[in-house]
Amino acid sequence: MNWSFLFRTKPISQIMNEASTEPGLHGGHGSSGLKRTLGVWDLTAMGIAAVIGAGIFSTIGTAASAGGPATVLLFIFTAIACAFSAFCYAEFASSIPVAGSAYTYAYASLGELLAWIIGWDLLMEYAIGNIAVGISWGDYFNSLLAGYGLHLPAYLTMDLLTASRGFEQVKAALDAGTPLAGLLAKGLPQTAIDAYQAWMTAPQFLGFHVILHLPAMVVVALVTWIVYVGIQESKKVANAMVLLKIAVLLLVVGVGAFYIKPANWTPFAPNGVSGIMKGVSAIFFAYIGFDAISTTAEECKDPQRDLPKAMIYSLVICTILYILVALVLTGVVKYDKLAVGDPLAYVFGPEGAAVNWMAGLISMSAIVALFTVLLVFQLGQPRIWMAMSRDGLLPPIFSAIHPKYKTPWFSTIITGLVVGIPCMFMNLTEVTDLTSIGTLFAFVLVCAGVLRMDPKRPKVPGRFYTPYISAKWIFPVLTLLGTLACFFYNHDGVMNLIHNLDPENPSLRGFDVLKHRIPLIGFDVLMIYLSWLSFKKSLSLIPLLGLASCAYLMTELGIVNWYRFGIWLIVGLAVYFLYSIRHSKLREGSV
Ligand code: ALA
Repeated sequence: MNWSFLFRTKPISQIMNEASTEPGLHGGHGSSGLKRTLGVWDLTAMGIAAVIGAGIFSTIGTAASAGGPATVLLFIFTAIACAFSAFCYAEFASSIPVAGSAYTYAYASLGELLAWIIGWDLLMEYAIGNIAVGISWGDYFNSLLAGYGLHLPAYLTMDLLTASRGFEQVKAALDAGTPLAGLLAKGLPQTAIDAYQAWMTAPQFLGFHVILHLPAMVVVALVTWIVYVGIQESKKVANAMVLLKIAVLLLVVGVGAFYIKPANWTPFAPNGVSGIMKGVSAIFFAYIGFDAISTTAEECKDPQRDLPKAMIYSLVICTILYILVALVLTGVVKYDKLAVGDPLAYVFGPEGAAVNWMAGLISMSAIVALFTVLLVFQLGQPRIWMAMSRDGLLPPIFSAIHPKYKTPWFSTIITGLVVGIPCMFMNLTEVTDLTSIGTLFAFVLVCAGVLRMDPKRPKVPGRFYTPYISAKWIFPVLTLLGTLACFFYNHDGVMNLIHNLDPENPSLRGFDVLKHRIPLIGFDVLMIYLSWLSFKKSLSLIPLLGLASCAYLMTELGIVNWYRFGIWLIVGLAVYFLYSIRHSKLREGSV
């Protein structure tokens, strides 16, 4: 068997041609049936709608509690890594302005197998990411209800894992003799006590406790319906909500600034670099989304001009807001108090600035913010499936367009089910970590795709190109400087690496220590290889830095995430080799 077709790329002209002419499943309503309604500010709003969400309203708290005020530096580093990738996304989106995002770009530059991998991987960013946002929305909704004195039964407000963990925690305390009423005083968190109540009051079916996150499921169903009935409606909802969201974040900064105690910013990095880096998953999650607007390329008025601009605009706006919010949060209260689910509301609550109307307003706006994130991702995922289906890698029904609403109706419903059902049962932290590692991998592949393009190829007027700066000397020198900096500033860490020791668990030996280092060692090898390659081929610096910075962030995500990510990819490859490979239109030569 000749396997070379796995790496055959799909010509850009062919992708463009198909997007404008291929009929949909029901005849006459193909991809060209999507309405072209989006301008640059619609797209920027959509980018902001996707980016500002659970990250800044929720996961920032855990990151800041580990990293302290220096988490601001992680926001800046992550924004830079995202900006490098945004250039690459923008270049692709400009040269291949059709639905499908990084999947389509990878098909044009890296070949079918990698395109499949990235399409499969994007499921993590969009669908798994939305599971996290759905859960977070449900949590804020529950606390808003509680503010009005309304309470759903506890067993309908959380996932089974959270409930069983809380039950075990509380049971251990009760068994040790602490009375139920004294648990809070003993230092048990309220969330564990709620989880215990959920477990104890849940109805049982065949011996199983029926515990599920109902609000999360309901909001996903609502968003799925909005997306199903059309882009026009979705655009209006996104634009209106995003303005409100920005206004509230500005209010947080404006009001919070008056309550900052500069003493809270000292020490700036209480747990050093390792403390800051514990927040990588949470902070990167906050930036995910600017790339999602590229999935609406077929609905843009002028995608080649507007998509690149909108991506960069939304990234810049969000970065500025994040840095300001992070400074306010860590300035108003001491960093170690921020490990709460609603840190923005918390800093204006009784433990912080005690501006109660602000705390209520923030809870309300979190619900809006998270709703718009759900909307954009729920809009993006079906369009990726649509592109994969057009290529034969998924069954044809995934690209079926609704005759009335002009939306990919089947993919939209499947997305609703893939997100809505797990929303009821899955745990927030695990889902966030998985989303971040998957998305970083997608960014790495997009940067690699741009790197493979010849920087000296003729330029088409009106298109966006990543500015070319030769990495020939710069990248090897940066790698060398980075290595020297590690030796000088993290000498102990380097020695532990060389001697395979874990200072936090000195009793561990051999592979038990080494396995945690494998991603970092792999990264080091990659940097040496890329330095050699950039010297030999004068590679383009921006995509190279994007690839390196995203790959580095991946190394910080912990080996357990790598295992899960590996399993995810293996399942994806199994689907590819069992179904897609037999139905690929590129392989058949029928496209
Ligand atoms: N960036 C998005 C959020 O924070 C995914 O919710």
